[in-house]
Amino acid sequence: MAGYLVEDKRKVTTHRLIQMKQEGKKIAMLTSYDYTTAQIVDGAGMDVILVGDSASNVMAGNVTTLPITLDQMIYHAKAVVRATQRALVVCDMPFGTYQVNPTEGVTNAIRIMKESHCDALKLEGGVEIIDTVRKILDAGIPIMGHLGLTPQSINKFGTYSVRAKEEAEAEKLISDAHALEDAGCFGIVLEKIPAKLAERVTKELTIPTVGIGAGGACDGQVLVIADMLGMTKGFSPKFLRRYAELGTVMTDAIGHYIQDVKNCDFPNENEQY
Ligand code: KIV
Repeated sequence: MAGYLVEDKRKVTTHRLIQMKQEGKKIAMLTSYDYTTAQIVDGAGMDVILVGDSASNVMAGNVTTLPITLDQMIYHAKAVVRATQRALVVCDMPFGTYQVNPTEGVTNAIRIMKESHCDALKLEGGVEIIDTVRKILDAGIPIMGHLGLTPQSINKFGTYSVRAKEEAEAEKLISDAHALEDAGCFGIVLEKIPAKLAERVTKELTIPTVGIGAGGACDGQVLVIADMLGMTKGFSPKFLRRYAELGTVMTDAIGHYIQDVKNCDFPNENEQY
């Protein structure tokens, strides 16, 4: 395993993220769902690892994030926590585990914290879930909000296109962001909203914003690891920068292995006992 790529090896805390905003230092956040990948991501110096419910798409092949269960999220979060020394590990609360009422929300939040040992939770939504957010925060659990395109509501939106382009939705997003900050959230993910709106929210809040398709003014950025490493096919939104073409690298390597096996080139004399 390669050594850490950052000099500051102290465990990242929610307080440090707020401090980073104050100091104008950008926050790097990336998803991970398993031990081996999280070890690499943490070792590279990531500030925040998100055990996103995008695991539903990336790991399980579901069309949406809705089917993933509490048990499955805990399984992924446990593996990521085991691999992580430095990054703050944030776990998504899956669809249906916090929308019913605050009591159920806090019960499920406590279960994730107790069983996975992650550092914080992320919930999608604004004022509609604010009582639940407060109750979870009251239990001593740090929360990251998530506004804009909230994939758990895809059946309501009907499309993954840019949110809050119209004034009314933009104004609601701004008041939701303030409500989450006032309740005590330590940060907010802003997904797929106009850059100007994200800039305004970022300026108005004292807690950091982490954007995905929300422009460069956010205090940090988050991407889904399989997308930015070029492992996913047929997904190329404007905001996505592909830092590698691992899908091609893997296909070449696997094809090479198949050939070697078929041609009796693998294993050779040095690769056997
Ligand atoms: O589940 C996820 O990966 C997310 C990011 C897109 C922010 O919520």
